[in-house]
Amino acid sequence: MSWKKGSLKQSTSITARLATFYTLTTLIILFVSSALLYWMLSTSIERGSENFVHSEITAISNILRGHVNDWSALNQEIVWKPQSQSNRYYARVTTADGLEVRATAGIDDILLSNVTWPLAPKKDGIISASKVIKIDKDQYYMLSTGWVVLDNTANKQAFHIEVALNVSHDQHLLWLYRQNLIFVTIFGTLCAFLVSMFLSKLGLRPVRKLTRALSKINANQLSDRLVIEHPPKELGDLILAFNDSLERLENSFNRLSAFSSDIAHELRTPINNLLGETEVMLSRPREVEEYQHLLSSNLEEYQHLSHIVDRLLFIARADNNNISLIKTPLVLRDEVRAVLDFLEAYAEEKQINLSIKGNATLEADATLLRNAISNLVTNAIKYIEPEGKVSVILEEDEEQVTIKVRDNGPGIKQEHLTHIFDRFYRVDSDRAKHTGGSGLGLAIVKSIIELHGGSITMNSNVGKGSIIIMTFPKLNAD
Ligand SMILES: Nc1ncnc2c1ncn2[C@@H]1O[C@H](COP(=O)(O)OP(=O)(O)OP(=O)(O)O)[C@@H](O)[C@H]1O
Ligand SMILES: [Mg+2]
Repeated sequence: MSWKKGSLKQSTSITARLATFYTLTTLIILFVSSALLYWMLSTSIERGSENFVHSEITAISNILRGHVNDWSALNQEIVWKPQSQSNRYYARVTTADGLEVRATAGIDDILLSNVTWPLAPKKDGIISASKVIKIDKDQYYMLSTGWVVLDNTANKQAFHIEVALNVSHDQHLLWLYRQNLIFVTIFGTLCAFLVSMFLSKLGLRPVRKLTRALSKINANQLSDRLVIEHPPKELGDLILAFNDSLERLENSFNRLSAFSSDIAHELRTPINNLLGETEVMLSRPREVEEYQHLLSSNLEEYQHLSHIVDRLLFIARADNNNISLIKTPLVLRDEVRAVLDFLEAYAEEKQINLSIKGNATLEADATLLRNAISNLVTNAIKYIEPEGKVSVILEEDEEQVTIKVRDNGPGIKQEHLTHIFDRFYRVDSDRAKHTGGSGLGLAIVKSIIELHGGSITMNSNVGKGSIIIMTFPKLNAD
C-alpha cells in the first residue's frame, strides 16, 4: 500500500498551533496588565478627588463648628473660593429642615434635582460618603455629603453639607488612557501573531529539512543514513531512532536477500547434477543397469532436495507460529537417552564417547525436542575429532530447565558465533561440503526452542570445545 498525501488525515499544522498558542498568551498578558494599569491609575485619580471633597467638607464643617454665625468665613469657602479655582467645585450647606444656608452659584443648574447624592449617616462628625456620577455628556462630578451636628448650642442644630467636584477632565484622561490600552492590546496581539507565525516557521525549518531527507530514502538506499547538520535536540533523538530502525531494516533486508540467494545456490548444485547426468544418459542408448544406476543416484539427490525443502518449510512455519506443539510431561533423561542410543552407532564409528549428566522434567513436544537434541549431538559428533567427548547436561531449578550440549571439539571463532543460528550459515563451507551439512540444523534447533518459549546460546573456545545452552521457562503459559 502506498501512502499519498491525501490519504493521510491531517490535523492543524504545528505552525498554526504554536502561533495561536503564543498569540492567545500574549493577548491574555496584555489584557491583564492593561486592566491592572488602568485600575491603578483610576483608583489613584479617584482617591485624589475624594481627598479633595472630603477636605472641603471638613473645612466647611470646621467653619460651622467654630463660628456658627460667621457668614463671612462660610461665604469665602462656599461662595467666593470655588469661583477662583480652576478645578471648579460647588458646595451647599442646608439645615436639617432643608433650608439653604449658603450655596455656590450655579449648583442647582449643574446638579440636576434628579441626581441622587450619596447617603451620609445623620450623625455628628465629618462623616461623609462619595461617588462619581455622569451628569451630562462628558460632564462628571464627584459628589460627597456629610453632616455636622452642633451640640454646644442651646437648640441643637444640624447642617447638611454637599460638595460636588468637577472631575470631567480626569475622566477624559482616563478615557484616553483606556483607548490607548485597547489599541496597545490589539496591536500587540496582532504583532505577536505575525512574529509567532514567522518564528514557528523558522523553528520548524529542520522538520521540513528532515521530510526532504526522508523522502529520498527508499529500499535501494537502505544503507544511506539520515544526516542533518546540528539538528535541534528533539529531532536529534528522532534521527538517531530513525537511523537505528533503518539499520535494523537494512540488516533484515540483507538477511532476506542473502537467504533467497542461499536457497537458489543450495538448490542449483543438486539440480545441475541431476540435469547433467540425465542429459549424458540420454545422449545415446544405454543398458538397463545404467538407467537403474542413474535413477538410484538421482533418488539420493531428490531425497537431499526434499530434505532441504522440508526443513526450510519447517523454519518458515515456525517463524509464522504456524506449528502446533503437542506438549507432554517429559523426563528429559529418557528422551536424551533415546537420542544417544539412536546416534550410538555413528558415534562409535568416530570413537566418540557420549554421556548424560543430571536429570530434569519438562512439558514439551517430544518429537521436536528429540529433533533439536539430535541435531546438536550430531553436530558435535560430526565436527569434533575422533576420540572426543560429547555430554548432555540436564539441570533444573524452580524457574527454568537447562539442557547443555558440551563437546571438546575444535570450537568456533567469536566472529562466527553471532551468525551461527542463521539459515545456511556454515563456519567452513569447504569442510561443510565434505561433511554434507546444509547449515540449517542450528536454525531449526533455534526455531524449536523459541516455539517452546525458550532461548538458546552458544559459547565456544577455539581449540577447547563448544557448549550450547538451551533454557526453558518452567511455568509455560501455553
Ligand atoms: N559442536 C560444534 N563444533 C564446531 N562447529 C560446529 C558445531 N556445531 C556446529 N558447528 C558449525 O556450525 C555450522 C552450522 O551448523 P548447522 O548444524 O546449522 O549446519 P550443518 O551441520 O552444517 O548442516 P545441517 O543442516 O546438516 O545441520 C556448521 O557448519 C559447523 O561449521
Ligand atoms: Mg548440523
